Amino acid sequence: MRLFIAAARESGLTIGLVPTMGALHEGHGALMRCAREETDYVVATIFVNPTQFDRPEDFQKYPRNIETDLAFCDRLGVDAVLAPSAKEMYPGEVLTSVEVAGISSRLEGEFRPGHFRGVATVVAKLFNIVTADRAYFGEKDAQQLAVIQKMVADLNLPVTIVTVPTVREADGLAMSSRNQRLTPEDRRNAPALYQALCEAERLIRNGSRSAPEVRQGALTLLLRNPVIRIEYLEVVDSATFQPVEMVTGDVRIAAAVWLGDVRLIDNVFVRGA
Ligand code: PAF
Repeated sequence: MRLFIAAARESGLTIGLVPTMGALHEGHGALMRCAREETDYVVATIFVNPTQFDRPEDFQKYPRNIETDLAFCDRLGVDAVLAPSAKEMYPGEVLTSVEVAGISSRLEGEFRPGHFRGVATVVAKLFNIVTADRAYFGEKDAQQLAVIQKMVADLNLPVTIVTVPTVREADGLAMSSRNQRLTPEDRRNAPALYQALCEAERLIRNGSRSAPEVRQGALTLLLRNPVIRIEYLEVVDSATFQPVEMVTGDVRIAAAVWLGDVRLIDNVFVRGA
């Protein structure tokens, strides 16, 4: 990878990085298109990072198809793909990690202990390996994005983070590699998550400022669907991910739900009054 990057730099090219865990879909496609537009040399990484999985079965069942993924990258005009093995990424005992305090302990961090330490550490490693000018991340993982932005700011990492809006299926379901593990029935029920988030957004736009009221409105809608198990649904400050009582500034309504053994997350951003 260093040789590829050195050659690109020698030719005066800017580098764009799209970090992924593979099982590529149009959400990743949007990141790659953005990178293709804004930078000269696009690197995608495909690595199902074991250290960010809190449940071994989730890691084992995570969809993997490197041949399809490479063809996808080719179609999107990616110049180089880094797809290391776990042994290559973690050759020995790892004693160093990156922990972004605060943001990492809420919501996803609370329900997936150690998740953001794994994410921040592997992303820092990828930044050091690829040394990109710009790196592209999807808004669907808004909390991950906030963690990475804070890490980049706090550690003066020389990379610009670019946020790309969530890509949705026609029925509103946010694209995710985990969607392919939904049963047909669960797939039919899955858009209820986005509908509930939209209901919360609607309540705020209609003037509701009480976060518990907004949250309850969304939950009422979601609870109508008995197959969906709610892990959390919160109205949080869009920068810190701390829950708010009153919607006075920019917020995100973020949720995680289970359908069968598949965990889905989604969020919407609402500009405050
Ligand atoms: O969003 C993902 O796919 C992963 O968390 C990332 C950023 C590639 C790190 O493994």
